[in-house]
Amino acid sequence: MTRIRLGVNVDHVATLRNARGGTHPDPLEAARAALRAGADSITVHLREDRRHIRDADVRAMRAALDAPLNLEMAATAEMVAFATAIRPQACCLVPERRAELTTEGGLDAAAAEAVLAPAVRQLAATGARVSLFLDPDPRQLEAAARLGAGAVELHTGTFCEAPAGPGRAAELARLRQAAAQAAALGLECHAGHGLDYDTAAELAAIPEVAELNIGHFLLGQAVFEGLPAAVARMRQVIDAARSRTHR
Ligand code: PXP
Repeated sequence: MTRIRLGVNVDHVATLRNARGGTHPDPLEAARAALRAGADSITVHLREDRRHIRDADVRAMRAALDAPLNLEMAATAEMVAFATAIRPQACCLVPERRAELTTEGGLDAAAAEAVLAPAVRQLAATGARVSLFLDPDPRQLEAAARLGAGAVELHTGTFCEAPAGPGRAAELARLRQAAAQAAALGLECHAGHGLDYDTAAELAAIPEVAELNIGHFLLGQAVFEGLPAAVARMRQVIDAARSRTHR
């Protein structure tokens, strides 16, 4: 049985810190706490407007953490140069401008192949595992394979927001099919956006999903139960869902 990896996104620790303009709470300390509680990796999104995570946060995490750092970034020359200097273990290309979006929110890799190709190539040359954040759409996965990405991260937002009923079941089926297609194309399959304990368990039950990246819900739960407890509970929930799948 393949253990599912849990990546914890600590962007909103920086959101909270920046609200007062000081140094507390420190995203690096939150990353350490998440790793101690059972996370496998830390994800941060360095946005072009630096609204939460800043360059210095990424540098500090890359230097201080033993675990893999997954840098979410736009496929711009500035971000590719930054990643080339920092050399995170993983880079996930995400859309930041409306023009790069499909209707549901992943990268339109099929339309943007010419822009993405040099970014994927340069990032892969640093030794990073490069993933593309995509809607569970067969055309997008085919584009990711043509681009030579090592992984795709399936956008789970539409599924997570869907009310119970046939529409939700259809979204989960789309994610399942996309995970199987990714595996058939030789792409490692990750998933994220909007996951909570229940939806993360449903994704963890898909055997091809190797990694979940979760931020907002865990930081929200940290208000009520503390970050270590929330991460430990998520770890337990997804491990249990994965083990039931393989029984
Ligand atoms: N994966 C990717 C590529 C993301 O951009 C984000 C943040 O939007 C997440 C996962 C985590 O999403 P959330 O904060 O909703 O858990």
